[in-house]
Amino acid sequence: MLNKLLSQQLSEMENSGFKRFLRNADCSPMSKIKIQGKELINFSSNNYLDLAGDKEIEEKAINIIKTYGLSATSSRLVSGNISVHKELEEKLALFKSKQACLVYPSGYQTNLGVISALTSYQKDACIIMDKLNHASIWDGAKLSGARIFVYKHCDMSSLEKVLKRTRNYNFKLVVTESLFSMDGDIAPMDEFVNLCQQYKAVSMIDEAHSTGVFGYKGKGLADTFGVADKIDITIGTLSKAFALQGGFVCGSKTLIDFLINKSRAFIYTTAISPFLAAMAIESLEIIKESDSDRKHLHNISKILKNKLKDLGFDIGKSESQIIPVITGTIEKTEKLSSQLLKNNIYVPSIKPPTVPNGKARIRISLTSGHSVKDIHLLINSLK
Ligand SMILES: Cc1ncc(COP(=O)(O)O)c(C=O)c1O
Repeated sequence: MLNKLLSQQLSEMENSGFKRFLRNADCSPMSKIKIQGKELINFSSNNYLDLAGDKEIEEKAINIIKTYGLSATSSRLVSGNISVHKELEEKLALFKSKQACLVYPSGYQTNLGVISALTSYQKDACIIMDKLNHASIWDGAKLSGARIFVYKHCDMSSLEKVLKRTRNYNFKLVVTESLFSMDGDIAPMDEFVNLCQQYKAVSMIDEAHSTGVFGYKGKGLADTFGVADKIDITIGTLSKAFALQGGFVCGSKTLIDFLINKSRAFIYTTAISPFLAAMAIESLEIIKESDSDRKHLHNISKILKNKLKDLGFDIGKSESQIIPVITGTIEKTEKLSSQLLKNNIYVPSIKPPTVPNGKARIRISLTSGHSVKDIHLLINSLK
Protein backbone atom coordinates (compact mmCIF):
# COMPACT_ATOMS: atom_id res chain seq x y z
CA MET A 1 0.00 0.00 0.00
CA LEU A 2 2.84 2.37 0.92
CA ASN A 3 4.69 1.69 -2.33
CA LYS A 4 1.53 2.18 -4.39
CA LEU A 5 0.92 5.55 -2.74
CA LEU A 6 4.51 6.72 -3.18
CA SER A 7 4.78 5.44 -6.77
CA GLN A 8 1.71 7.46 -7.66
CA GLN A 9 3.26 10.62 -6.23
CA LEU A 10 6.58 9.92 -7.92
CA SER A 11 4.96 9.47 -11.32
CA GLU A 12 3.04 12.72 -10.85
CA MET A 13 6.40 14.43 -10.22
CA GLU A 14 7.93 12.73 -13.24
CA ASN A 15 5.05 13.75 -15.50
CA SER A 16 5.36 17.40 -14.49
CA GLY A 17 9.16 17.43 -14.79
CA PHE A 18 9.77 17.92 -11.03
CA LYS A 19 11.22 14.50 -10.26
CA ARG A 20 14.77 14.56 -8.94
CA PHE A 21 17.34 11.82 -9.44
CA LEU A 22 20.86 11.17 -8.24
CA ARG A 23 23.57 11.42 -10.87
CA ASN A 24 26.60 9.25 -10.04
CA ALA A 25 30.02 10.87 -10.25
CA ASP A 26 33.05 8.58 -10.40
CA CYS A 27 35.22 10.80 -8.20
CA SER A 28 35.11 13.82 -5.92
CA PRO A 29 33.75 16.70 -8.01
CA MET A 30 36.28 19.50 -8.39
CA SER A 31 36.73 21.81 -11.40
CA LYS A 32 36.51 18.57 -13.38
CA ILE A 33 34.01 15.81 -12.72
CA LYS A 34 33.89 12.26 -14.09
CA ILE A 35 30.44 10.91 -14.91
CA GLN A 36 30.16 7.44 -16.48
CA GLY A 37 33.86 7.53 -17.32
CA LYS A 38 33.59 10.85 -19.17
CA GLU A 39 35.53 13.87 -17.92
CA LEU A 40 33.50 17.07 -17.84
CA ILE A 41 34.23 20.65 -16.81
CA ASN A 42 32.28 20.98 -13.59
CA PHE A 43 30.34 24.18 -12.91
CA SER A 44 28.24 22.72 -10.10
CA SER A 45 30.34 22.59 -6.95
CA ASN A 46 30.70 24.96 -4.00
CA ASN A 47 34.41 24.21 -3.82
CA TYR A 48 35.00 27.95 -4.28
CA LEU A 49 38.72 28.05 -3.45
CA ASP A 50 39.45 24.68 -5.04
CA LEU A 51 40.54 23.15 -1.72
CA ALA A 52 38.66 19.85 -2.14
CA GLY A 53 41.71 18.26 -3.72
CA ASP A 54 44.35 20.45 -2.10
CA LYS A 55 47.58 18.45 -1.83
CA GLU A 56 48.79 20.34 1.25
CA ILE A 57 45.60 19.46 3.16
CA GLU A 58 45.54 15.90 1.82
CA GLU A 59 49.07 15.25 3.05
CA LYS A 60 48.22 16.53 6.51
CA ALA A 61 45.06 14.41 6.64
CA ILE A 62 46.91 11.11 7.30
CA ASN A 63 48.67 12.49 10.37
CA ILE A 64 45.50 14.16 11.53
CA ILE A 65 43.61 10.84 11.42
CA LYS A 66 46.40 9.19 13.42
CA THR A 67 46.17 11.91 16.08
CA TYR A 68 42.42 12.31 16.41
CA GLY A 69 40.83 9.14 15.00
CA LEU A 70 37.83 9.04 12.74
CA SER A 71 34.73 9.74 14.77
CA ALA A 72 33.64 11.69 17.85
CA THR A 73 31.38 8.67 18.55
CA SER A 74 28.91 10.63 20.69
CA SER A 75 27.31 13.98 21.33
CA ARG A 76 29.58 16.78 22.55
CA LEU A 77 27.60 16.80 25.81
CA VAL A 78 28.24 13.12 26.47
CA SER A 79 31.86 12.29 25.64
CA GLY A 80 32.37 13.66 22.14
CA ASN A 81 33.83 17.03 23.15
CA ILE A 82 37.41 16.86 21.95
CA SER A 83 40.03 19.58 22.40
CA VAL A 84 40.21 20.15 18.65
CA HIS A 85 36.52 21.19 18.55
CA LYS A 86 37.28 23.97 21.02
CA GLU A 87 40.37 25.03 19.09
CA LEU A 88 38.41 25.23 15.83
CA GLU A 89 35.60 27.21 17.50
CA GLU A 90 38.02 29.72 18.98
CA LYS A 91 39.63 30.25 15.57
CA LEU A 92 36.30 30.58 13.76
CA ALA A 93 35.01 33.09 16.34
CA LEU A 94 38.11 35.22 15.84
CA PHE A 95 37.79 34.94 12.05
CA LYS A 96 34.18 36.16 12.24
CA SER A 97 34.93 38.92 14.82
CA LYS A 98 32.71 37.31 17.44
CA GLN A 99 33.19 36.23 21.05
CA ALA A 100 32.33 32.58 20.54
CA CYS A 101 31.38 29.85 18.09
CA LEU A 102 29.62 26.48 18.07
CA VAL A 103 30.21 23.83 15.42
CA TYR A 104 27.37 21.56 14.19
CA PRO A 105 27.55 18.49 11.93
CA SER A 106 26.28 20.48 8.92
CA GLY A 107 25.26 23.96 7.81
CA TYR A 108 21.69 22.73 7.41
CA GLN A 109 21.62 21.54 11.02
CA THR A 110 23.14 24.81 12.20
CA ASN A 111 20.31 26.88 10.77
CA LEU A 112 17.73 24.38 11.97
CA GLY A 113 19.22 24.21 15.46
CA VAL A 114 19.91 27.91 15.98
CA ILE A 115 16.65 29.35 14.67
CA SER A 116 14.39 26.82 16.35
CA ALA A 117 16.17 27.03 19.71
CA LEU A 118 16.23 30.82 19.75
CA THR A 119 12.61 31.43 18.92
CA SER A 120 10.95 28.40 20.59
CA TYR A 121 12.00 29.58 24.03
CA GLN A 122 11.17 33.30 23.77
CA LYS A 123 7.74 34.57 24.70
CA ASP A 124 5.88 36.20 21.84
CA ALA A 125 8.54 35.62 19.19
CA CYS A 126 8.44 36.06 15.44
CA ILE A 127 10.85 35.37 12.60
CA ILE A 128 11.24 37.77 9.71
CA MET A 129 12.66 36.25 6.53
CA ASP A 130 13.89 37.24 3.10
CA LYS A 131 11.54 35.45 0.69
CA LEU A 132 14.39 33.60 -1.01
CA ASN A 133 16.18 32.34 2.11
CA HIS A 134 17.64 28.83 1.93
CA ALA A 135 15.52 25.79 2.83
CA SER A 136 17.50 25.23 6.05
CA ILE A 137 16.50 28.70 7.30
CA TRP A 138 12.87 28.06 6.39
CA ASP A 139 12.90 24.66 8.05
CA GLY A 140 14.38 26.11 11.26
CA ALA A 141 11.68 28.77 11.27
CA LYS A 142 8.89 26.25 10.69
CA LEU A 143 10.24 23.94 13.39
CA SER A 144 10.21 26.75 15.94
CA GLY A 145 6.44 27.19 15.71
CA ALA A 146 6.96 30.98 15.84
CA ARG A 147 4.98 33.27 13.53
CA ILE A 148 6.86 33.81 10.24
CA PHE A 149 6.79 37.09 8.31
CA VAL A 150 8.34 37.46 4.87
CA TYR A 151 9.79 40.50 3.11
CA LYS A 152 10.53 40.92 -0.58
CA HIS A 153 13.88 39.59 -1.70
CA CYS A 154 16.74 41.97 -0.73
CA ASP A 155 14.20 44.81 -0.47
CA MET A 156 14.95 46.91 2.61
CA SER A 157 11.85 49.08 2.33
CA SER A 158 9.79 45.88 2.38
CA LEU A 159 11.76 44.73 5.45
CA GLU A 160 11.06 48.05 7.16
CA LYS A 161 7.33 47.68 6.50
CA VAL A 162 7.38 44.23 8.12
CA LEU A 163 9.40 45.54 11.07
CA LYS A 164 6.77 48.23 11.62
CA ARG A 165 3.98 45.66 11.47
CA THR A 166 5.74 43.43 13.98
CA ARG A 167 6.64 46.22 16.43
CA ASN A 168 4.62 44.63 19.23
CA TYR A 169 6.36 41.28 19.17
CA ASN A 170 8.54 40.80 22.20
CA PHE A 171 11.31 39.01 20.24
CA LYS A 172 12.02 39.48 16.54
CA LEU A 173 14.65 37.46 14.68
CA VAL A 174 15.47 38.76 11.20
CA VAL A 175 17.31 36.34 8.92
CA THR A 176 18.94 36.76 5.53
CA GLU A 177 21.64 35.13 3.47
CA SER A 178 24.44 37.58 2.73
CA LEU A 179 25.12 35.98 -0.67
CA PHE A 180 22.11 34.14 -2.06
CA SER A 181 22.81 30.57 -3.05
CA MET A 182 20.61 30.33 -6.14
CA ASP A 183 20.82 33.91 -7.47
CA GLY A 184 24.34 34.99 -6.53
CA ASP A 185 23.07 38.40 -5.48
CA ILE A 186 24.00 40.20 -2.28
CA ALA A 187 21.83 41.57 0.54
CA PRO A 188 22.63 45.19 1.52
CA MET A 189 24.19 44.22 4.84
CA ASP A 190 24.65 47.80 6.11
CA GLU A 191 20.99 48.77 5.66
CA PHE A 192 19.93 45.38 6.99
CA VAL A 193 21.85 45.85 10.25
CA ASN A 194 20.73 49.44 10.69
CA LEU A 195 17.08 48.45 10.34
CA CYS A 196 17.45 45.57 12.79
CA GLN A 197 19.06 47.89 15.32
CA GLN A 198 16.48 50.64 14.78
CA TYR A 199 13.56 48.25 15.37
CA LYS A 200 15.29 46.33 18.19
CA ALA A 201 15.34 43.08 16.26
CA VAL A 202 18.00 40.37 16.47
CA SER A 203 19.99 40.14 13.22
CA MET A 204 21.14 36.84 11.77
CA ILE A 205 23.03 36.29 8.53
CA ASP A 206 23.96 33.14 6.69
CA GLU A 207 27.40 33.49 5.09
CA ALA A 208 27.53 29.95 3.66
CA HIS A 209 28.49 31.10 0.17
CA SER A 210 30.45 34.27 0.95
CA THR A 211 32.86 32.92 3.57
CA GLY A 212 36.26 32.41 1.99
CA VAL A 213 35.24 34.36 -1.10
CA PHE A 214 34.53 37.92 0.08
CA GLY A 215 35.98 40.19 2.75
CA TYR A 216 39.47 40.66 4.20
CA LYS A 217 41.18 37.24 4.16
CA GLY A 218 37.84 35.69 3.16
CA LYS A 219 35.97 36.72 6.32
CA GLY A 220 32.73 37.17 4.36
CA LEU A 221 30.39 39.92 3.23
CA ALA A 222 29.64 41.29 6.70
CA ASP A 223 33.30 42.21 6.76
CA THR A 224 33.13 43.78 3.27
CA PHE A 225 30.24 45.97 4.47
CA GLY A 226 32.09 46.76 7.73
CA VAL A 227 29.26 45.38 9.89
CA ALA A 228 30.68 42.07 11.16
CA ASP A 229 30.66 43.26 14.78
CA LYS A 230 27.13 44.68 14.52
CA ILE A 231 25.47 41.46 13.35
CA ASP A 232 24.16 39.44 16.30
CA ILE A 233 24.43 35.97 14.78
CA THR A 234 26.57 34.71 11.89
CA ILE A 235 26.16 31.29 10.30
CA GLY A 236 28.78 29.56 8.20
CA THR A 237 29.42 26.14 6.74
CA LEU A 238 32.53 23.99 6.43
CA SER A 239 31.17 22.37 3.28
CA LYS A 240 31.75 25.08 0.69
CA ALA A 241 34.99 27.15 0.59
CA PHE A 242 36.35 24.97 3.44
CA ALA A 243 35.73 21.92 1.20
CA LEU A 244 34.90 19.66 4.18
CA GLN A 245 31.70 19.06 6.11
CA GLY A 246 30.06 20.77 9.08
CA GLY A 247 28.47 24.08 9.98
CA PHE A 248 29.00 26.78 12.59
CA VAL A 249 27.35 29.69 14.36
CA CYS A 250 29.24 32.68 15.78
CA GLY A 251 27.93 35.22 18.29
CA SER A 252 28.19 36.22 21.94
CA LYS A 253 29.39 33.81 24.64
CA THR A 254 25.90 33.92 26.13
CA LEU A 255 24.30 32.94 22.81
CA ILE A 256 26.62 29.94 22.45
CA ASP A 257 26.02 28.90 26.07
CA PHE A 258 22.26 29.07 25.43
CA LEU A 259 22.57 26.94 22.27
CA ILE A 260 24.64 24.31 24.08
CA ASN A 261 21.73 24.02 26.49
CA LYS A 262 18.74 24.39 24.18
CA SER A 263 19.66 23.61 20.59
CA ARG A 264 18.37 20.08 19.97
CA ALA A 265 20.20 19.80 16.62
CA PHE A 266 23.44 20.24 18.60
CA ILE A 267 22.56 18.28 21.74
CA TYR A 268 21.06 15.14 20.24
CA THR A 269 23.58 14.30 17.55
CA THR A 270 27.12 13.00 17.30
CA ALA A 271 29.69 15.79 17.16
CA ILE A 272 31.49 16.42 13.89
CA SER A 273 34.42 14.11 13.60
CA PRO A 274 37.57 15.44 15.34
CA PHE A 275 39.32 14.59 12.08
CA LEU A 276 37.09 17.07 10.22
CA ALA A 277 37.53 19.70 12.94
CA ALA A 278 41.31 19.46 12.67
CA MET A 279 41.11 19.57 8.88
CA ALA A 280 38.92 22.68 9.13
CA ILE A 281 41.67 24.43 11.11
CA GLU A 282 44.04 23.67 8.21
CA SER A 283 41.50 24.89 5.64
CA LEU A 284 40.93 28.08 7.60
CA GLU A 285 44.64 28.91 7.53
CA ILE A 286 44.77 28.30 3.76
CA ILE A 287 41.58 30.33 3.19
CA LYS A 288 43.12 33.32 4.97
CA GLU A 289 46.16 33.16 2.68
CA SER A 290 44.19 32.70 -0.55
CA ASP A 291 44.04 36.29 -1.80
CA SER A 292 45.33 35.41 -5.27
CA ASP A 293 42.71 32.64 -5.66
CA ARG A 294 39.98 35.04 -4.57
CA LYS A 295 41.24 37.58 -7.09
CA HIS A 296 41.23 34.99 -9.87
CA LEU A 297 37.73 33.81 -8.90
CA HIS A 298 36.32 37.35 -8.96
CA ASN A 299 38.08 37.99 -12.27
CA ILE A 300 36.66 34.95 -14.10
CA SER A 301 33.22 35.63 -12.57
CA LYS A 302 33.32 39.13 -14.05
CA ILE A 303 34.42 37.88 -17.47
CA LEU A 304 31.61 35.32 -17.58
CA LYS A 305 28.89 37.68 -16.34
CA ASN A 306 29.80 40.41 -18.81
CA LYS A 307 29.84 37.97 -21.70
CA LEU A 308 26.53 36.35 -20.72
CA LYS A 309 24.89 39.77 -20.46
CA ASP A 310 26.29 40.74 -23.89
CA LEU A 311 24.82 37.55 -25.30
CA GLY A 312 21.41 38.46 -23.89
CA PHE A 313 21.12 35.78 -21.21
CA ASP A 314 19.08 36.55 -18.10
CA ILE A 315 21.56 36.23 -15.22
CA GLY A 316 19.39 38.03 -12.69
CA LYS A 317 21.35 40.30 -10.35
CA SER A 318 24.35 38.10 -9.73
CA GLU A 319 27.27 39.92 -8.14
CA SER A 320 29.37 36.91 -7.37
CA GLN A 321 30.79 33.53 -8.37
CA ILE A 322 27.24 32.09 -8.42
CA ILE A 323 25.70 32.90 -11.78
CA PRO A 324 22.21 31.73 -12.74
CA VAL A 325 21.09 31.54 -16.34
CA ILE A 326 17.35 31.86 -15.90
CA THR A 327 15.37 30.12 -18.63
CA GLY A 328 11.97 30.12 -16.89
CA THR A 329 10.59 26.70 -17.76
CA ILE A 330 11.85 23.35 -16.61
CA GLU A 331 11.89 22.05 -20.21
CA LYS A 332 14.16 24.85 -21.44
CA THR A 333 16.48 24.42 -18.46
CA GLU A 334 16.76 20.64 -18.88
CA LYS A 335 17.43 21.12 -22.59
CA LEU A 336 20.17 23.68 -21.98
CA SER A 337 21.80 21.52 -19.31
CA SER A 338 21.80 18.42 -21.54
CA GLN A 339 23.12 20.35 -24.54
CA LEU A 340 26.04 21.56 -22.41
CA LEU A 341 26.61 18.00 -21.25
CA LYS A 342 27.07 16.95 -24.89
CA ASN A 343 29.90 19.51 -25.02
CA ASN A 344 31.49 17.97 -21.90
CA ILE A 345 30.31 20.75 -19.61
CA TYR A 346 28.33 19.99 -16.49
CA VAL A 347 25.96 22.69 -15.23
CA PRO A 348 22.98 21.30 -13.30
CA SER A 349 19.42 22.44 -13.87
CA ILE A 350 17.69 23.93 -10.84
CA LYS A 351 13.94 23.75 -10.70
CA PRO A 352 11.09 24.56 -8.29
CA PRO A 353 10.68 24.23 -5.34
CA THR A 354 14.40 25.08 -4.96
CA VAL A 355 13.66 28.27 -6.96
CA PRO A 356 10.26 29.97 -7.45
CA ASN A 357 7.86 28.70 -10.12
CA GLY A 358 8.71 30.13 -13.54
CA LYS A 359 12.33 30.77 -12.49
CA ALA A 360 13.96 27.48 -13.46
CA ARG A 361 17.59 27.92 -14.37
CA ILE A 362 20.98 26.43 -14.77
CA ARG A 363 23.20 27.55 -11.91
CA ILE A 364 26.83 28.16 -12.82
CA SER A 365 29.09 27.94 -9.83
CA LEU A 366 32.67 29.07 -10.42
CA THR A 367 35.70 28.09 -8.39
CA SER A 368 39.28 29.33 -8.40
CA GLY A 369 40.15 25.98 -10.04
CA HIS A 370 38.51 27.13 -13.29
CA SER A 371 40.77 28.64 -15.91
CA VAL A 372 39.96 31.49 -18.30
CA LYS A 373 39.95 28.79 -21.01
CA ASP A 374 37.20 26.87 -19.14
CA ILE A 375 35.13 30.06 -19.05
CA HIS A 376 35.54 30.59 -22.80
CA LEU A 377 34.57 26.97 -23.49
CA LEU A 378 31.41 27.52 -21.45
CA ILE A 379 30.62 30.78 -23.25
CA ASN A 380 31.13 29.20 -26.67
CA SER A 381 28.87 26.28 -25.77
CA LEU A 382 26.17 28.58 -24.46
CA LYS A 383 26.33 30.59 -27.67
C1 LIG B 1 22.62 29.54 2.35
C2 LIG B 1 22.88 28.14 2.80
N1 LIG B 1 22.86 27.88 4.11
C3 LIG B 1 23.11 26.64 4.57
C4 LIG B 1 23.37 25.60 3.71
C5 LIG B 1 23.61 24.23 4.26
O1 LIG B 1 24.96 23.98 4.38
P1 LIG B 1 25.53 22.48 4.41
O2 LIG B 1 25.67 22.05 3.00
O3 LIG B 1 26.81 22.59 5.15
O4 LIG B 1 24.52 21.66 5.15
C6 LIG B 1 23.40 25.82 2.34
C7 LIG B 1 23.71 24.71 1.42
O5 LIG B 1 23.64 24.73 0.26
C8 LIG B 1 23.15 27.13 1.87
O6 LIG B 1 23.14 27.39 0.56
